[in-house]
Amino acid sequence: MNFAERLLAWHATHGRHDLPWQVHDPYRVWLSEIMLQQTQVTTVIPYYARFLARFPDVAALASAPLDDVLALWSGLGYYSRARNLHAAAVMVMERFGGAFPADPALLAELPGIGRSTAAAIAAFSFSVRSPILDGNVKRVLARWAGIDGFTGEKAIESRLWQLAQTLLPANAEDMPAYTQAQMDLGATVCTPRKPACLACPVAEDCVARLTGRQHELPTPKPR
Ligand code: ADE
Repeated sequence: MNFAERLLAWHATHGRHDLPWQVHDPYRVWLSEIMLQQTQVTTVIPYYARFLARFPDVAALASAPLDDVLALWSGLGYYSRARNLHAAAVMVMERFGGAFPADPALLAELPGIGRSTAAAIAAFSFSVRSPILDGNVKRVLARWAGIDGFTGEKAIESRLWQLAQTLLPANAEDMPAYTQAQMDLGATVCTPRKPACLACPVAEDCVARLTGRQHELPTPKPR
């Protein structure tokens, strides 16, 4: 089995399947991904539910006063996320007639949506074959491929994006599960400290594992 096939098989039994944003609705996926950018899953869940109850769709969010959005965000921190969220909702209404685009390049033009978040929204909502590369995925790929160098550096990052692209599943229908599998693997198995290599579906050809360097990679930020 190739990398993607092994991640998918692992995810079927060991991945998270009960998260409230595991839906094919770009509005809900987008909202969850913005909340999850700097906040943990357990904290996000009640905020996400309250937010959706008050703003059930992008039109409701776009037409709400910014202060109402900020009030519901209160406690989550990083308030620029809430300001960007509101501005993006207005843009989706004005530019796209209320329908989120499926193209990650267009999604990335909305405020608060970077390249990886755009790919996650496109993959979860529309099964677009576009790779994510968040902090967790950078760690997984740097270890698996044995890539040395700070992953925040341009040249390393560009290698990782390229690798992530080549590892995508052949079947676009597998994109939601594959994207979640990568997030789950980084969060539960390929953790920053004490990675659980015995539970990892790609340990057998992981360069870091094979060379005993799983604690050295990814290379820390130079100082
Ligand atoms: N962190 C960022 N996106 C996530 C997701 N979809 N599920 C769980 N954790 C996440």
